[in-house]
This record gives sequence, structure tokens and C-alpha cells, in this order.
Amino acid sequence: MDRIAAVSFRLRRALKRVLPPPVLNLTRFMKAAFSSMISKRLVDRIRLRSLEKRKVAHKHDWDGYRRVLDEFTPSAVPHKIYLNQIWPEWKQFVEFLVRERSPERILEIGTGRAGSTYFLTKVGGEGSLLVTVDTKPIAKEFVDLYKRSPKQRIINLIGNSRDPITWKGWQAS
Ligand SMILES: C[S@@+](CC[C@H](N)C(=O)[O-])C[C@H]1O[C@@H](n2cnc3c(N)ncnc32)[C@H](O)[C@@H]1O
Repeated sequence: MDRIAAVSFRLRRALKRVLPPPVLNLTRFMKAAFSSMISKRLVDRIRLRSLEKRKVAHKHDWDGYRRVLDEFTPSAVPHKIYLNQIWPEWKQFVEFLVRERSPERILEIGTGRAGSTYFLTKVGGEGSLLVTVDTKPIAKEFVDLYKRSPKQRIINLIGNSRDPITWKGWQAS
């Protein structure tokens, strides 16, 4: 939140320098809209964490995470997070990943509405890297709400996975 507040402050200061007064009135409106968006996002983050606290019994409680997604309706985004998978198959899949592979690096092609991404953040956990890519930007706002485990990186790219431009400028270190 501190980082968001600092960016917002710098943005306003920069705008004040370059824009004439009438345009500044417009920026007041933009500022209000921007603050409201930030506060909605903050509320969403808090709500998601509080649901996790109440619904999830342990770090691989997949049914618990599913209950969280069922109950969570974001206020900053006009859609629910949605898992586009057959639940028993998906649960078996994430259980397999955790038990047999313990992946530290996960690449997901097709974020969709970020339901699968939510579970993959829990599969990866501490110190892991999760990259998710989709041609549609809809999931980005959801992914920004997800809690990061310590030292976990979650990167949401927008673009076609087959297009080298999508990966340009980003590489795993
Ligand atoms: C079935 S949905 C994703 C489901 C999501 N993984 C889930 O389980 O909830 C498929 C998604 O893949 C994306 N997609 C398909 N081909 C793609 C590609 N080559 N690069 C990036 N995204 C792609 C589509 O835009 C769509 O959002």
C-alpha cells in the first residue's frame, strides 16, 4: 500500500508541474476515481485473506481454497474469479503436483479468470516462481490480489504464448 501511495503522490506531483489549472480540475476527478479503485482493491485483498483464514484448514486444503473462491466476490473487478476445470480432476492434479513434483517453477498458458492460477500459487508456495500468460488481460486484476508466500514471485503476462514479443523483456533469473 505504501508503494501505491508513493506512486500516486509522485504521479500527482508530476501532473501538477505539466498541466494547466483547468486540466488539474479533471485530475482531481481522476484522483478520486484512482483512490476509490485503490481502496476497493485493498478491501478485496483483505477480504480474500480473511476468507482464507476462515475457510482453509491447512496449506494444501484444496476444498478450502475452492470455498474461498465460491464466496469471494471482488468489488474492484466486475467478475468473479473462476476455475474452468472439472473439480475432481483438478484437485487430483494439484495434489499430484504437490506430492510428486513440488514444483518451484510453474508456467501456466491460459490464465482465463485466474481460478487455476489461484491454486497454482498455493502449489508453488515459498520461494517459487509462477508465470501465467493469457492473450486477454482480464485476469491481471485478480492475480494482483493474490497473497504471495515469502520470496514467491507471481508474474502475469498478457500476450500470445507463441509470440516471442510476449516473453521479451522478461526472463526468469
Ligand atoms: C479454458 S481458459 C483458461 C482456464 C484456466 N486455466 C482455468 O483453469 O480456469 C483458456 C484460456 O487460454 C487462453 N489462451 C489460449 N491460447 C493461448 C495462447 N496461445 N497464449 C495465451 N493464452 C492463450 C485463452 O485466452 C483463454 O483465456
